[in-house]
Amino acid sequence: MKTVKLMLAASAALIISAGAVSLAHAQDLPPLAKKDHYKVGFAQSESNNPWRIAETKSFQDTAPKCGWDLVATDAASSAAKQVADVDSMIAQGVDAIFLPPREEKPLLPAVLRAKKAGIPVFLVDRSVDANVAKAGRDYVTFLGSDFIDQGHRAADWLIKATGGKAKIIELEGTTGSSPANDRKKGFDDAVAKESGMTILASQSGDFARDKGRQVMETLLQAHPDVTAVYAHNDEMAIGAIQALEAAGRKPGKDVIIASIDGTRDAMQAIIDGKLGVTVESSPFFGPLSCETMKRYAAGEKIEPWVKVSDRIFTIDNAAASIAGAY
Ligand code: AHR
Repeated sequence: MKTVKLMLAASAALIISAGAVSLAHAQDLPPLAKKDHYKVGFAQSESNNPWRIAETKSFQDTAPKCGWDLVATDAASSAAKQVADVDSMIAQGVDAIFLPPREEKPLLPAVLRAKKAGIPVFLVDRSVDANVAKAGRDYVTFLGSDFIDQGHRAADWLIKATGGKAKIIELEGTTGSSPANDRKKGFDDAVAKESGMTILASQSGDFARDKGRQVMETLLQAHPDVTAVYAHNDEMAIGAIQALEAAGRKPGKDVIIASIDGTRDAMQAIIDGKLGVTVESSPFFGPLSCETMKRYAAGEKIEPWVKVSDRIFTIDNAAASIAGAY
């Protein structure tokens, strides 16, 4: 009898504590009313590559279907401008903000100011420093890919394609951004396990084609023995191909290239035999953002990470997939 009473007390305590937890969450995150129309902010980081343009278009195309009056801004590659854009959305009293933070740290204060102003923030495609801000407490959720896994998959492909022997130049994305940090970790950790795989140099090309080309040009002079390139995105991979060709090298033959995104130009480079692989990173966040926001407005508890799953494109499927690329 005593045991039964103890069990009942324990489960009651559990229910109370579970209730307290969900109440705390409800109090922590700003609520979102169920309505037919919302004023929604989308604070884009830059528009200097096809991926970013496709992401913005996905939000613009989704807006009329989801009842959004969209306030879209472009931070033109400046974290400071992106902070100002979020602050302006707060001042305009938007109902919700979708934000791809250009870098992990500088956007944090703006995310917290939006929460304080009672505006739920959804991080899309890029995240903020997980040691400082938490999904379910400071912002609703992160919608996006597993960047560490993308880097790992690019490494696995390269290890296989080179028979585990390569001298690699790594072109990193924007310094301080979550995809650059995580794609580097996933790739570097995987190749570190292979004694024949050496990273000769690793430098940022800022996720941009021309910067990638310039960095590759410089690194190629310092490391003419390069046999492979890992670029954190397709734009830098295309820049690397241009630099290699200008130096009389044969991308896809004497230098094997792996990258991430799945753009139309990357698919074409695979078909042309210059790029070996691109691991997909989808920019089409509009429909998923609409669905997640509706779930949140309906009072559903949103998981901290709404994960997007990614395909991989090689010579086996690039021709069949290019029509759907951007
Ligand atoms: O955050 C995703 C990355 O950002 C994409 O790989 C890149 O092309 C973009 O600029």
